[in-house]
Amino acid sequence: MEVVIVPDAGAGGELIAEAIAALVARKPEALLGVATGSTPLPIYRALAARVSAGTLDVDRLRVCQLDEYVGLPAGHPESYRSVIHREVLEPLGLGLDSFLGPDGTSEDIPAACAEYDAALASAGGVDLQILGIGTDGHIGFNEPCSSLASRTRIKTLTPQTREDNARFFDSLDEVPHHVITQGIGTILEARHLVLLATGAGKAEAVAATVEGPLAALVPASALQLHPHATIVVDEAAAAQLK
Ligand code: F6R
Repeated sequence: MEVVIVPDAGAGGELIAEAIAALVARKPEALLGVATGSTPLPIYRALAARVSAGTLDVDRLRVCQLDEYVGLPAGHPESYRSVIHREVLEPLGLGLDSFLGPDGTSEDIPAACAEYDAALASAGGVDLQILGIGTDGHIGFNEPCSSLASRTRIKTLTPQTREDNARFFDSLDEVPHHVITQGIGTILEARHLVLLATGAGKAEAVAATVEGPLAALVPASALQLHPHATIVVDEAAAAQLK
């Protein structure tokens, strides 16, 4: 596991955008796994700036989703499909034909999860997966005590994660209780994992991920098992590293 400490979130976004640009230069049809939430936004802005400046061509890039709320109606502005459309696909000039994601509106969620794992495999697997980290150490929405071998499935959000995500909704009551998330085993199949963590609120989870024992209680510690995992942290998020 490689840990890179950067001065701030903007520098983290630039660094990761550079790694994605290098991947796209090598493999224009790469499959990029994207996370939602606040942390990865500087990455998406840095990528969009390169596309606007004409220094990055993402025409053949494919994008796939890490997780999705269950039960939000199609087109809800906070469904992760909508967020990725708004924050990633549109700014990069990509259409929905470049996008893969699970169906959080399905009547049969277990089938939707299995279909999504199969779709990722038949797309050739994820080349680079962007990850954020929850204050409780979750990756995707694999909350503490998730199986380290888990596949894409439905999970219940913890009260803490629902509170953390309430800022995107008008009230806590509107935050869904359930999500579809790629499992930890699914995430570990990506060829390169890049986790970005910024701000003091993530410092404890980052220290447990990097320096703590491998433990289902800290799902992000599963990155210790991966042959190519990069953790990019700003100085505030690095504060509890020894
Ligand atoms: C979202 C996701 C989550 C977030 C995490 C941190 O797709 O997978 O694991 O990355 O909850 O969220 P922010 O970045 O908003 O602090």
